[in-house]
Amino acid sequence: MKEIEIGQHKMHDESRQGEALELANTINPTGKKLYIESYGCAMNFSDSEVVASILAKDGFSTTRNVDEADVILVNTCSIRDNAEARVRKRLTDFKKQKKANPNLTIGVLGCMAERLKKSFLEDEKLVDIVAGPDSYRDLPNLIDVVGNGQKAVNVLLSREETYADISPVRLDQGGVSSFVSIMRGCDNMCSFCVVPFTRGRERSRDPQTIFQECKDLFDAGYREVTLLGQNVNSYRWNLSSKGEIKDSNVPTTNFAQLLELVATVSPDLRIRFSTSHPKDMTDDVLETIANFENLCPYVHLPVQSGSTSVLERMNRGYSREWYLDRVEAIRRIIPNSAISTDIIIGFCGETEEDHQETLSLMDEVQFTFSYMYKYSERPKTLAERKYEDDVPEEVKSRRLVEIIDKQRAFSFEHNKTQVGLTVKVLVEGFSKKSKEEMCGRDERNSFVVFPKENAEKGTYVMVHITDCTSSTLLGKIIEICTPRI
Ligand code: SAH
Ligand code: SF4
Ligand code: F3S
Repeated sequence: MKEIEIGQHKMHDESRQGEALELANTINPTGKKLYIESYGCAMNFSDSEVVASILAKDGFSTTRNVDEADVILVNTCSIRDNAEARVRKRLTDFKKQKKANPNLTIGVLGCMAERLKKSFLEDEKLVDIVAGPDSYRDLPNLIDVVGNGQKAVNVLLSREETYADISPVRLDQGGVSSFVSIMRGCDNMCSFCVVPFTRGRERSRDPQTIFQECKDLFDAGYREVTLLGQNVNSYRWNLSSKGEIKDSNVPTTNFAQLLELVATVSPDLRIRFSTSHPKDMTDDVLETIANFENLCPYVHLPVQSGSTSVLERMNRGYSREWYLDRVEAIRRIIPNSAISTDIIIGFCGETEEDHQETLSLMDEVQFTFSYMYKYSERPKTLAERKYEDDVPEEVKSRRLVEIIDKQRAFSFEHNKTQVGLTVKVLVEGFSKKSKEEMCGRDERNSFVVFPKENAEKGTYVMVHITDCTSSTLLGKIIEICTPRI
C-alpha cells in the first residue's frame, strides 16, 4: 500500500521525488555542468537552489539532461525508510553512468548524507562526495578534492549557518511561487523523527535578509512565497546573538512580527508558511494573519495522532484537547480558514482505541486535506531506543486505508461547499490535461482548474466555482484582477 496524501499541496512529502532542476541563463565560462535531483521536503528543494547558487559562482550551470552532467548531486531525505530506498535505487543508476564515464563526480547531499556520513563511501561505494545540510558552502572545495582523485566528506552541523547571504538561484525560471527558508534545524525531538539528527539545532535567519529575498522574488515576477521551517512558530531572531536569546533586553523578532514584515513587501505577494507546530501556535500569529489580506487564511497544523497517550509517547508536547483548542482558535480568529494536517498511523503501542481517536479527531476537525503515513522506525530516534515498533504491517495498512478513505470523503465534502462561490486564484500555468485550461490555487490553498480565456501565468483571477472532485475545484473566470508587472 503506497502512502499518499489526499488533497493538493505537496509540502514535505518525499514522493515529490526526483525533480531535476535547471538553472538557465547562467554565465558559464567553464562549461561545467551540474545535474541536481531533489527528494524530500520543501526545505530540500529550497536548499538545492542555494547549492545551485554556490556552484554557479564556481562556474557551473545546471542541466536537466543527466547525460551531459560533469557533477551529479542528489539531495536526499531520511524521513521514512521508503524515502531512503528510493534514493539508493537512484544512486545505483548513476553508478552505472559513472562506469561509462569515470570523470563523472557523484555527490549525495541532505539528510541521508548527514545520517549515514562516511558509510556512503565505505560500505556502499556509491558516491564521491557526502555533504550534509550545513556544509554546502564547502561544495566547490569538495568537488576539487574529488578532482584530485580522492573522496570528500563534510557532515559538520552548524549552530549558525542559515545561508542568509546567499541569493538562491531559482531553478524554475519564470515561476510564480517560491519557497523561502526562514530557519533551519529543529529542537523538538519528537520521538519518531530523524530530522533533529539530520538537520541539527534550530536557528533563525536574519529577518531583513528574508524580507529582501521576498522583495527580490516579487520584483522578478513571483506572486507567492512559502516561508519554510520545521517549526515556524518558534522563529525568533535576536540581533545580538544570531537567533539565540542571550540578552533579554535586545529586541527580538518573533514569527508574528516576521509575517507582518513580509506582508508589507507588496499586497500582491501572497504569503504562506510551513510547518506550524500545535504546541507553539499562538494567537498573535493568527491575529496577524487575520489583519493582512495577503497572509493566506490557511494553516498546515500536523496533529500526528488523535490519542493523547500516543501523543505523549511521540513527545509532541500537546494533548488532543490542546490541539482541538488551537483549531478552535484558528476558526475563531481567521473565519473561513482552511486547516490541513499530517497523520502517522501505527506508531509504537497504538491500540485500536487510539486509532479510533484519530478517526474521531478527523471527524471533529474536518481537515481540507492530510498527508498520511505509516510509522517507519528510524535509527537513533527516541522511539527506536525506547519503544517497540509493535503494530503489525497488515494492521498498519488497514488503518492507513481507513484514514485515507475518511480524508477523501471530507476533502470532497469540503470542495462541494465551495461550489457556487467565487475565489481568488493565482494563475500558476496550464493544467496538466490541456493548453486550453489553466490552474492555480485559491487563498485557502485549494487547487482550481478553469478555461484559459485571457488569463496569464502570474496574474490573479476571480473564478466562479461550478463543480469539483475530491482534489480539484472546477470553475470559470469572471474577472481578471491584476496584470503581471
Ligand atoms: N517539522 C514538521 C514535519 C517534518 S516531517 C512538523 O513537525 O510537523 C513531515 C511529516 O513526516 C511529519 O509531520 C510526520 O507526519 C511524518 N513523519 C516524520 N517521521 C516519520 C516516521 N518516522 N514515520 C512516518 N512518518 C513520519
Ligand atoms: Fe521532526 Fe518534530 Fe521537529 Fe517536526 S517538530 S521536524 S516532527 S522533531
Ligand atoms: Fe526529509 Fe530531511 Fe526534509 S529527512 S523531510 S529532507 S528535513
